[in-house]
Amino acid sequence: MSVTLIIGSQWGDEGKGKIVDFLSLQSDYIIRFHGGNNAGHTVVNKYGKFPMHLVPSGIFSKRATGIISNGVILDLEVLISEIEMLKKSGIKLKNRLLISPRCHLIMPYHKLLDQVYEEAKGKNKTGTTGRGIGPTYADKVSYNGIRIWDLLDTKRFSEKLEIQLKIKNGILKSLGKKPLSAKTIEKTFFEMRGKIMPYIAEPFLLLQKALKEKKKILLEGAHAVFLDPDWGTYPYVTASTIVAGGINSQAGIPPKFLSDVVGVVKAYTTRVGEGPFPTELTGATGEILRKAGNEFGTTTGRPRRCGWFDAELIRFAALLNGFTSIAITKLDVLDSFSEIKVCVGYKYKGEKATYSQGDDQFLMKVVPVYKTLKGWQATTNGLTDYKKLPLNAKKYIEEIEKLTGVSVKYISTGPHRHDIIVK
Ligand code: GDP
Ligand code: IMO
Ligand code: MG
Repeated sequence: MSVTLIIGSQWGDEGKGKIVDFLSLQSDYIIRFHGGNNAGHTVVNKYGKFPMHLVPSGIFSKRATGIISNGVILDLEVLISEIEMLKKSGIKLKNRLLISPRCHLIMPYHKLLDQVYEEAKGKNKTGTTGRGIGPTYADKVSYNGIRIWDLLDTKRFSEKLEIQLKIKNGILKSLGKKPLSAKTIEKTFFEMRGKIMPYIAEPFLLLQKALKEKKKILLEGAHAVFLDPDWGTYPYVTASTIVAGGINSQAGIPPKFLSDVVGVVKAYTTRVGEGPFPTELTGATGEILRKAGNEFGTTTGRPRRCGWFDAELIRFAALLNGFTSIAITKLDVLDSFSEIKVCVGYKYKGEKATYSQGDDQFLMKVVPVYKTLKGWQATTNGLTDYKKLPLNAKKYIEEIEKLTGVSVKYISTGPHRHDIIVK
C-alpha cells in the first residue's frame, strides 16, 4: 500500500478529514488535489479541533509533508488565515507545506459571479457554498484564469486582471452589481503574496522521487462522488473532478501507481445544498439523525439534509472508482435507533432501476426499496476493537459489505483520531 486515495462516496462530509488524519500517521506525503475552500474537513486530535479548508488534513502528522497540488483553487485570504491558525496551534509548516504555483486563484469577481448565478437561477439554484468555485474553474478551462505563477510577476498579474475586469465588470454591471476596482484587488493580492511565498514550490519532481522510492502517499479527496461534474447529480454538483482518475490531472500522479482506493461513507446519508436525494428523511427521523450526528455544514453552517444509507449509490461509486475498501464513519450516531433502514436498490415506474441509467430528474422520481435491520441500542462511541461491537452493529456492517460488494476496513466510532476500528 503506497499510494492511497481517500474519496468521499456520498454528497460530502463523510468524515474524510478524520480518516486522513488517522492514516497520515503512516504517510510521508498528504496531497489535497482538487476543489477549494468549499471543502471543510474536520480533524480532532491531540492538538485540538480544526476545520480544514485547504491545507491537507494530514499536516498534524510529524512524519508527513503536506502538498496542495495544481488541481486546487485558492482563496488566498482563507489559505493565509488557515496557515496562521495552524501556526498558533504549534504546527510547524516551514518546509512541510508545499503549494503548486499552477494553482488557480479565486478572485473577488468569482465570488460575486457565484452569487449572481445562484440569484438568477432562483428556485433552480444549485445551493453552492458561495465561495466562487464554479466561476473559478470555468475561467480555468476557458483560459481566463489567473494562477499563482501570475501573482509572482506583478506586471503579468495586473495585465491579466485588467482584461478580466473588462469582462467581469460588464457582466456584474448588467446584473445590477457594482464594478470592481483593479487598484483595490492589486493592493490586497500583492500584500497576500508575501505571506504565501515561503510555501510556493512545484511538487512534481518531489512526488516522482517519492513514487520511485515507494514512499507512502495519501491523496485527500474533497467533496464526494455524487458531486462530481460528470458522474454526480448534475447540475447539483461541484466543479472539480472527484473520481479516482482525477489524481493524474490534478496531482500529477500516474494512475498506475494507485494501490488503494478507500471510499468513505457515513453510516447514513447527508447532503447540503439542492438536488435529488432518494433516501432523504424529511420528518422526525431526519431531525433525530441531524441532532445525533450534529449535521451542520463545516464550511457554511447550513443544516445538512439527512437520510438512510443508500447502497445503490455506494455500489455505483465502488464500480466507478474501483474501491479496494470502505471506511464507515459515524456508526455511533445510530446507537440509539431501534430499527435502521438500508436502501438496497431503486424502483422507477414499478421496475428495478439503477443510478447510472438516468439524470437528476430521474433520480428525484426513483422509489427506494428498503431492508429494515434491528438496531443495537448500545454505545459504540470510542470503540477500537471489532470484537467489542454489538452483534447488530456487526450485522449492519456485514449487510453493507454484502450490498456494496466491498469489504469494510475502517469503522469510525467518534470524531477523535483514535476513535476507530481497523478491521
Ligand atoms: P469531511 O468533509 O468528509 O471531512 O467531513 P466533515 O468534517 O465536514 O463532517 C464530518 C463531521 O463528523 C465532523 O464534525 C467530524 O468531527 C465528525 N465525525 C467524523 N467521524 C465521526 C464519527 O465516527 N462519529 C461521530 N460522532 N462524528 C464523527
Ligand atoms: P467536503 O469536502 C458538502 C456542495 C455544495 C453544493 C454543491 C456546489 O467538506 O465534503 P460549490 O460551492 O462547490 O460550487 O457547491 O456542492 N459541496 C459540498 N457539500 N461537502 C463538501 O465538501 C462540498 N463541496 C461542495 O453544498 O450543493
Ligand atoms: Mg466537510
